[in-house]
Amino acid sequence: MEIYININKFPNVKVIIGDFMDKGKNYEVKDIKLAGQGRLNLEIAESRMQALMKVKERFEKEKPLKGVRVGLALHVTKETGILVRTLIAGGAEVAITGCNPLSTQDDVAAVLAEEGIKVWAYKGETKEDYYRYLNNVISFKPNITIDDGCDLVSEIHKKHQNLIKNIIAGCEETTTGIIRLRAMEKDKALKYPMIAVNDNNTKHLLDNFYGTGQSTIDGILRATNVLFAGKNVVVVGYGSCGKGVSLRAKGMGSNVIVTETDSFRALQAALDGYRVMPMKEAAKIGDIFITVTGNKNVIDISHIKSMKDRAILANSGHFDAEINIKELKNISKPRRVRPFLEEYNVNGKKIFICGEGRLINLAAAEGHPSEVMSTSFCGQALACEYAVKNKGKIPNKVIQLPAEIDDHIAQLQIEAMGIEKDTLTIEQKKYLESWQEGT
Ligand code: NAI
Repeated sequence: MEIYININKFPNVKVIIGDFMDKGKNYEVKDIKLAGQGRLNLEIAESRMQALMKVKERFEKEKPLKGVRVGLALHVTKETGILVRTLIAGGAEVAITGCNPLSTQDDVAAVLAEEGIKVWAYKGETKEDYYRYLNNVISFKPNITIDDGCDLVSEIHKKHQNLIKNIIAGCEETTTGIIRLRAMEKDKALKYPMIAVNDNNTKHLLDNFYGTGQSTIDGILRATNVLFAGKNVVVVGYGSCGKGVSLRAKGMGSNVIVTETDSFRALQAALDGYRVMPMKEAAKIGDIFITVTGNKNVIDISHIKSMKDRAILANSGHFDAEINIKELKNISKPRRVRPFLEEYNVNGKKIFICGEGRLINLAAAEGHPSEVMSTSFCGQALACEYAVKNKGKIPNKVIQLPAEIDDHIAQLQIEAMGIEKDTLTIEQKKYLESWQEGT
């Protein structure tokens, strides 16, 4: 159940959302009675995550994570539920919270709580609860951290350095988290090794490109039900996510415009057939704007002021910093017109913001499809195993998993899809490794 309270009407009333939660010794979730639906959703996810299930089967036999405490701050979705079960199958103890106030699937949090897993998460978390829950995971004294966006790692480094001696490694799921970790490494602030799961080829291709492409459009459709065909869709940032979003919007008949600050990516967008222009120009003609940069204020208030009446804005980058909603709120009060859609009045024009500017695929939809998260989470599970096997040998840096592990994930996924690839003959292998033969 969602409760909408107009706090403007009751300025002196402090709303403590956490008090409405179902609480147990080891959990805090919205409604434990949602566990039945959560279990069914996990069943569906499991049936579509065959690559990860293969890892789970092996983990059950070999127990590579025996006695290891894994603390997670990930989007609490049905797919994450399967990752949690995989880590437990491998012998790990697990505690989990969300990594974004709007991305938790409450039925999944409920079923995890029912299965006895330490879980603190609900959709619509206050900032206080968000950090309280992160600290609950930290109090669990994890040996491995799995993060999506680096908030868990950052909190440990800022306030709990005494726990670092027990941490073997951390695993990071997204581009924004990697950017923050690299900044920590550069400042010599990083105190334990980090595995950049985000940078696996199998994660990047399926998740950032195909996953964000499909699920971002899904989120905007669920929030607005707008027709994409014939609309000017402005995609801000032409990285892996932006490329996926552009491709899917084009497939739905939109006229895609890309804005970029990187010359090579701007060139690539142009050669892929999109119009490329600065935001100050795109702002005037766009109907739907989608930010996927990992950067701040890429749609600023001056851009919003020059937009057409009824422009729709959505963000699919990790943080809600990409659209300058703070400034927008200074000039207009939002009106909630339906779940995950707010209308602002800007100089007489209606401007719509989806999902409060939080990553729309998880706020208004269900995140990436299970097949996509299967490869991402094979990466997470195998990264945990790699960390344990190499305990004490990995430097306090951001590292990538060896290419063989990435290849293994790709192989698991093509097998799951019933695809058979070719193999090199001995002659071909030799030819590719030699330099003597020419024309
Ligand atoms: P990326 O680094 O490959 O691409 C970002 C692009 O944005 C770069 O090409 C950069 O030049 C461009 N950019 C930066 N500032 C800009 C500006 N002011 N105007 C126009 N372009 C600008 O990153 P990737 O992997 O595409 O991820 C983007 C964001 O999406 C990150 O925050 C990442 O964490 C997040 N993400 C979200 C997912 C989701 O489920 N919604 C899934 C995966 C990543």
